[in-house]
Amino acid sequence: MFNIAILGLGTVGSGVYEVIKENNALLKEKTGEDIIVKRILDLREFPGTEWESLLVHDIKEIIEDKDIDVVVETMGGTSPAFEFVRDALLAGKHVTTSNKALVAAHGTELLKIARERNVNFFFEASVGGGIPIIRTLTESYAGEHFKEITGILNGTTNYILTKMDAEGESFEKALATAQDLGYAERNPEADVEGHDTCRKIAILSSLATGKKVNFEEIHTEGITKIDTVDFEYAKHLNTSIKLFGDAKFENDKVFAFVAPVMVESDHPLFMVNDVFNGIMVEGNMLGKSMLYGSGAGKLPTASAVVADIVAIAKNKDGNVSFGWGDKKQEVVDMQETSHRYFVRFMGRDGDFIEKCKTSFRDAKEVYLDGKDEFALITGVMKEKDFLATVKHK
Ligand code: HSE
Repeated sequence: MFNIAILGLGTVGSGVYEVIKENNALLKEKTGEDIIVKRILDLREFPGTEWESLLVHDIKEIIEDKDIDVVVETMGGTSPAFEFVRDALLAGKHVTTSNKALVAAHGTELLKIARERNVNFFFEASVGGGIPIIRTLTESYAGEHFKEITGILNGTTNYILTKMDAEGESFEKALATAQDLGYAERNPEADVEGHDTCRKIAILSSLATGKKVNFEEIHTEGITKIDTVDFEYAKHLNTSIKLFGDAKFENDKVFAFVAPVMVESDHPLFMVNDVFNGIMVEGNMLGKSMLYGSGAGKLPTASAVVADIVAIAKNKDGNVSFGWGDKKQEVVDMQETSHRYFVRFMGRDGDFIEKCKTSFRDAKEVYLDGKDEFALITGVMKEKDFLATVKHK
């Protein structure tokens, strides 16, 4: 028998319960174990439900219960999730979590404790929902030096951008629907300001480099400043606007950012719409490869958590290494990185347009019919030079 405790019966936690119940016979076939949810930690009571008899409100009842083999953390946030997970690992329990904020902030430390206690700390569901990106990077691509990872890593923002693009829907309406569908974080700011994507690209970068990538050092822009006219320009240019989390790996350095990007129609991530996520990985031997699937939502995310439970059941006597050690990874300051920029200006004054064009290196102008404004697409420039030039316009 393999006893599970679920911390937090929200969208993902209740999904884990459902997947274990629904696929119980299959899980037994795969692991040779009866997978049983023995305890659920939540502040609420859920009277009259099948969960009622399993509920506890004090984490000690789980940590001190010798019969609990695996703790599933689906509470979200970093505190008390960190303390609960740390204590579970210290007590010799395996842990799986869907919580990217926890993994990005404390992954290095929690993996170290798991190694020392010879248990497993797995977090497949923390990035890409139902897409198996963590195992792909650490097992399938174990023989690669990674060159770049580019991802549409947030289902909520991708859903919003798709609705704004395809249906001209307002940002607010699309966000409300994403929240109703259970994609969004409790605080939508984490999605729409790019923080969720930032944590996910930090986790993938840590796995790619084997070092601790501090998410706070990754330049992060969200999608709240994008309006319908930006989409008109994007269409005119045969592009679509997507929120990218990107990390390049060069000479032991990481160049990473989170920002909305105009994606050309022949780019593989152009086709990734709605709540779906897509992740492109470039390795030195592999070349390019893309993973695609449900990036958020109750059951896809719960499915990844349950896959971790299966992996734990198969590795219950020892720690599986992710190769993510304690050393710190250098992340290059965004100011020193180079990109092309899309920038809009009010008016159509010819002298002003010429002046702008000469200030930005190799800039090309773009006009929309009937609009008293124009846009430039700059050549490749350093962020600091771009910002300095914009400031003087
Ligand atoms: N809020 C996240 C998203 C959930 O929309 O992608 C999955 O991590």
